[in-house]
Formats: sequence, structure tokens, C-alpha cells
Amino acid sequence: MAPLQTVSRALTRSATAAACRSPATATAVRAMSSTPALRDSSSSSSSYQSPFKGESKTNVPDFSKYMSKGSGSTNALFSYFMVGTLGAISAAGAKSTIQPRCFGPWPKVEVDLAAIPEGKNVIIKWRGKPVFIRHRTAAEIDEANSINVASLRDPETDDQRVKKPEWLVMLGVCTHLGCVPIGEAGDFGGWFCPCHGSHYDISGRIRKGPAPLNLEIPTYDFSDDGKLVVG
Ligand code: FES
Repeated sequence: MAPLQTVSRALTRSATAAACRSPATATAVRAMSSTPALRDSSSSSSSYQSPFKGESKTNVPDFSKYMSKGSGSTNALFSYFMVGTLGAISAAGAKSTIQPRCFGPWPKVEVDLAAIPEGKNVIIKWRGKPVFIRHRTAAEIDEANSINVASLRDPETDDQRVKKPEWLVMLGVCTHLGCVPIGEAGDFGGWFCPCHGSHYDISGRIRKGPAPLNLEIPTYDFSDDGKLVVG
């Protein structure tokens, strides 16, 4: 097939060269070429057929019945009001969910735990790193305690990793190469790091994949009024 194409191109090229010298062969060359014939300057005005024949190209449809009766400035004011109102509503909604508070001479973050339902994860940022907070269910706590610790790559009991069994707090940084694992994923119902396939269990312990260690536990404590203080 390739030699046939080469011969065809060579024939077309030589015929084109001939056409440059002889106008009589130009029509034959166009018939051989696979590209549409270009208009030559002498025939462009007579052969061109406009698709808008019989219509003026400057005719614009009448949209007046769709136009607002108000002035331009009234419409702009209404748009700004709607954008501002929706923005304020969104901000209020986000604020009412979880509102970490930074304070103290050292970077600490305070989280109101009452806003985290059982069985849910929340991620906050502390010292530029994600911190996972999970409000564990009774079944999850049982599962975390049912593991044979001696079989783990980084042997730690669940008790060593939590201050209150229902609250698991850990850095959201994979101990392999530092990606952020995904919650409620993986083969062990905990966290899964998609970067290279590390699976962590419901206590944040490495169970499968290349990560060498369990997810790190940061410094944290619980305040008397039911808040978590990280840092
Ligand atoms: S960084 Fe998480 S598995 Fe590699």
C-alpha cells in the first residue's frame, strides 16, 4: 500500500508542476487531487454561492420581547444582591458544621466534637497537615480490638492509639510517601491511599500495601466542655 501512495503523490506533484506551466492541465490536476480545489483569483467572484442567498446578513432576530423592562443599573443591582445573599447563606451553612478555632502561642486547633455525628469523618488542617477525626461506632471499636496485634506490620493495640475509644484522631498523611488517604475506603474499612495502594484499618494501622507504619497520632487532648484540642 505504501509504494502505491508514494507513486500517487509523485504523479500528483509532477502534474501540479505541469499545471503551473500549462493552464489547460489545471482542471485535470484538480480532479486527481484529494484536497478541494482552491479558487483561483480570476474565478472567485463568479463561482462562489452564498448560503444566505436572498437574505441580508445584517438581519438580526428581534429579541425585544425577552428584554427586561428595567434599566441596566436595576438589573445589575438585583444580580449583585442575589450573588451576595447566596454567598452569605453558603458561608453561614459551612460555619454551622465544623468550625476549628486556632489559638495559643503554639499552633493549636479546637474542634467542637458535638458537630461530628457517629460514624462520620472530619478533616481539619493543623500545621499545614490534614488531621483525620473519626467518631467511631461501637462496631468499629470492637473490630479495631479484635485484631491479632502480633500479625501487624507496625504492632499497636487500639488502646495505644486512642484516648477515648469513640474518637480516633490521626494525621492524614500516608506513611509511605505522604499522600492523603481516602476515608471509608480500602480492604479493611478504614482508609485507603490510592497513590500506591496502602490500606489502613479502622484504627489507622497499616494492613496492606507499601506503607511501613501506622498513620501517625498527633498531640491532642479533650477539653472539659467536650472539645478536641489538637496541638
Ligand atoms: S504514598 Fe500512600 S501508598 Fe504511597
